[in-house]
Amino acid sequence: MSVRLGDVAPDFSAETTQGSIQFHAWKGSGWAVLFSHPKDFTPVCTTELGAAAALKSEFDKRHCKLIGLSVDSVESHLRWEGDIKDVTGHQVNFPMIGDPDRAVANLYDMIHPNASDTMTVRSVFVIGPDHKVKLTLTYPASTGRNFQELLRVIDSLQLTSGYSVSTPADWKPGDDVIIAPALSDAEATEKFPKGFDTKKPYLRMTPQPDR
Ligand code: BEZ
Repeated sequence: MSVRLGDVAPDFSAETTQGSIQFHAWKGSGWAVLFSHPKDFTPVCTTELGAAAALKSEFDKRHCKLIGLSVDSVESHLRWEGDIKDVTGHQVNFPMIGDPDRAVANLYDMIHPNASDTMTVRSVFVIGPDHKVKLTLTYPASTGRNFQELLRVIDSLQLTSGYSVSTPADWKPGDDVIIAPALSDAEATEKFPKGFDTKKPYLRMTPQPDR
């Protein structure tokens, strides 16, 4: 079953490198990034886990927990964490789900048989406080993900969940944002006291409202 935007992220129980969890209870009322990697003791995955660990404090600032997964066991993950520290300098500082029976991988459709019968693809699910899926990404085994981009996306998701705005291409925190087309000019004037620039009737830019 595929997990789509707006769906409630399926709940599950699992063994992790930091003990047993029930996913929704572990996530609590904050945000979470659940991401899969294809296999332990592989090169791209080693760099990814180090990169994610290096940015953990940035995810913390956004009230966002990280949790990794592969179809290897918790014991394997724990052995591999030593290599990740050696190579990247970063101790993995978030739980990694052991999923040798593929229960969670199947629940989240992380195995794409035309890519590999046995390994998970590089899936990412960003899940909001309401347990609903806000973003999905799927990368192949050969391409490592950009964890700074995940932070940028979470900044956009958190901003746009609180204001009637969306963020343009290549937006970075602090850049101007787009006023929701559903708002009339009168409503926009009231909601965005810093003013707005009407580039087209459907494209009105305003300074980021929470700064
Ligand atoms: C890697 O992380 O480098 C990798 C993982 C699975 C298959 C091939 C490469």
